[in-house]
Parts: sequence; C-alpha cells; structure tokens
Amino acid sequence: MKKLLVTGGAGFIGSNFVRMSLSEHSDCFIVNLDKLTYAGNLENLAGFENHPNHKFIKGDICDGLAVEKIIDQYKIDTIINFAAESHVDRSITEPKIFIETNVTGTLTLLEAARDKKLERFIQISTDEVYGQLGPEGKFTEKTPLSPNSPYSASKAAADHLVKAFGHTWGVKYNISRCSNNYGPYQFPEKLIPLMINNALNNKELPIYGDGLYVRDWLYVYDHCTAIWKVLTEAPPGEIYNIGGCSEKTNLEVVGLILDYLKKPKSLIEHVKDRPGHDRRYAIEARKIIKELGWQPSVSFEQGIKKTIDWYLKNEVWLSNVVSGDYQKYYDSMYSNR
Ligand code: NAD
Ligand code: DAU
Repeated sequence: MKKLLVTGGAGFIGSNFVRMSLSEHSDCFIVNLDKLTYAGNLENLAGFENHPNHKFIKGDICDGLAVEKIIDQYKIDTIINFAAESHVDRSITEPKIFIETNVTGTLTLLEAARDKKLERFIQISTDEVYGQLGPEGKFTEKTPLSPNSPYSASKAAADHLVKAFGHTWGVKYNISRCSNNYGPYQFPEKLIPLMINNALNNKELPIYGDGLYVRDWLYVYDHCTAIWKVLTEAPPGEIYNIGGCSEKTNLEVVGLILDYLKKPKSLIEHVKDRPGHDRRYAIEARKIIKELGWQPSVSFEQGIKKTIDWYLKNEVWLSNVVSGDYQKYYDSMYSNR
C-alpha cells in the first residue's frame, strides 16, 4: 500500500488527483494537507470526506514540524506537491505569497523528505518555467528554464531546489511539467471557468489584448493519470513534460464555449493586456508517452463539452465559489482593464 502525502489536495488538480486515485486505485492511502486558501475548497472533495483511505488535514506546507509529524504518524513514503499559489495575474499584483508558498513551502517539504528518507518526492511543476515560444517549436525537457512571471519564476526556483536536493543529498525525485489544465472544480479566475461563468450570466468575456495568445490544453483527468504513471513507473531523477497536443488561441477557446452555450460573440470584450503576457506555450510530451506509456484520453472538443456540462450541473458549487470574495477580486481585476 502506497502512503502518500498529497499537498494542495483541496485545489483544482489536487482534488481531481485525490478523486481519481481513491476511485481507481485501492492500493494507496492519502493524507491530504491543504491550507484552504481562497483556491482550496472542501466541496471539491465532496463524497470522499469519509473515505477510509483518505485523511484531510488543514495546514501549511511551510510548517515543517506539522509536515514531519504527518510523515511519522501516517508512515508516509511519498510526497506529491501540488500546493501552490497558481494564478499568474495574482502573482503580478501580489508576488510575495508566491515566494512563500511555492519556494519556501517546497523547500520545507524537501527538508522533510530528506530527513525522513522518503522513497520519492514528486514536484508538480508547469510548462511556464520554460518561458514563452514564438510561432514555431515546442518545449522539451531539455529546454532551459526561462520564466517570465513572478508565478513561473517561483515554480522554476522550486524545480531548481528539487534538483539540488537530489544532487546534494540524494533525495529521490521526479518533476512533472504540464500545460494548461481545464475540467471540473477549477476556480473561476482561470480562463475557461471564468468565461463559462460570465457567459452563463450574459456578462462580458474579458479577452486580454488581441486574444491570439496560444496555450496547449489538457483535460485534468489526463494530467492525473500522467502523475499516477510517474508515481508508479518513473525512475528517480527524471523530469516529464505533460501536454494535450491541443494548441488553441484564447479566442478559439472562448468561441467554442459561446457556440456550445449558444451565446453571442458580442459578449467578447478585448481588455488591457496582462503585463509580460507569454505569447505561446506548446509541450513536447513524447518522453512520457514513449517511456511510461501514458496517453491523453480526452480531446479538447470532448473535454470542453464535458467541462461546460459539469459547470451547468454544479450550479450550487459555482454559486458558492463566486459568492463572497470572488466578486471583489473580479471587480478589482477588471475595473482597470
Ligand atoms: P489551485 O490554485 O486550484 O490549488 C492550489 C491548492 O494549494 C489550494 O487548495 C490551496 O488551498 C493550496 N495551498 C496554497 N498554499 C498552500 C500552503 N502554503 N500550504 C498548503 N496548501 C496550500 O491550483 P491548481 O491549478 O490545482 O494547481 C496545482 C499545481 O499544479 C500547482 O503547483 C500548479 O503550479 C501546477 N500546475 C497547474 C496547472 C493549471 O493549469 N492549473 C498546469 C500545470 C501545473
Ligand atoms: O501553462 C500552465 C499554467 O496554466 C499553470 O502553471 C498555471 O497555474 C495556470 O493558471 C495556467 O496559467 P495561464 O496564465 O496560462 O492561465 P489563465 O487561465 O490565467 O490564462 C490563460 C490564457 O487566457 C492566458 O493567455 C491569459 C488569457 N486570459 C485569462 C483570463 C483569466 C484572458 O484573456 N482573459 C482572462 O480573463
């Protein structure tokens, strides 16, 4: 039985990973450590609260004593670190918390993994650590790190720390670098759920700049299956890119959402651009496909419909999430654009 410490498991990808693991793999026990920031939500774990192989603990990855206590008490063998401040726009207005959680938090977990001699440390990183691309080419695992936003700089710093702990103290690690995820339980500050929520309410759809920025989209379930492959099959010290081979401009993504919801294109409003906005990301995922036999199972056209249907069916989840502080955040973000 694998004994996993999953951090950030009440957020978007972490909660999908916990759900997938407990539903599909009976041979794991998960301690889920999450600070429950604005992005963490226990409703993301509904139905799994009392699962015998799941223990939720509210706490901070920067609290080394708490982390060590969990490792001892539950005989943890592997840490999978999803916990992070994850939104690029917020890193531009308030960078400091990104350094605390994404850098100091990762360092704290690495010290615990080293001192407790864990079997593996898996860092959930991002394609944004590579910087941006022009119209051609893709990021490979050998592309030098060249992050552009405070968010991606903090994630790249964490990747360097993970490798340094491997090199210096022999911590056995893997790093996964995935492209943009979408799917159930994503907080509606991110492009796809924000546009779905606004379109459902006949509100403006704020497209930054010309809308021709390109992202490679992966359905969140496929990211989770890739991480499971890394957990169970990857040799230590290996880094894997994960992507959907599904590049789209932001205008294309929003166009598909409007078509599916039968809403007019006139809802689109071009607003002031994100400072330092990366033009294009594209992932070469050949390594994980070839070496670990992973494949994405959901095309973007299928995934976007599944995602919109999920938000339509989970109106209560959505209205709980957008009530309170979310509205203040949205108004302050978009009043200056
Ligand atoms: P999210 O913002 O939805 O969730 C982050 C979770 O971490 C929340 O539950 C939050 O409460 C928790 N958290 C934050 N600070 C914490 C702390 N100090 N201690 C404990 N918990 C804390 O993020 P997400 O989109 O699910 O991303 C998860 C991970 O995947 C991140 O590391 C992110 O960098 C990476 N990633 C995200 C994407 C994407 O498209 N969303 C793509 C590639 C990689
Ligand atoms: O590439 C992986 C990264 O993808 C992850 O590491 C990050 O955690 C995740 O947030 C995501 O970063 P992006 O900046 O690409 O995602 P976001 O949803 O914020 O924006 C996607 C694109 O849409 C980007 O080009 C900016 C644009 N955008 C976004 C918002 C919120 C808009 O045009 N309007 C918007 O209102």
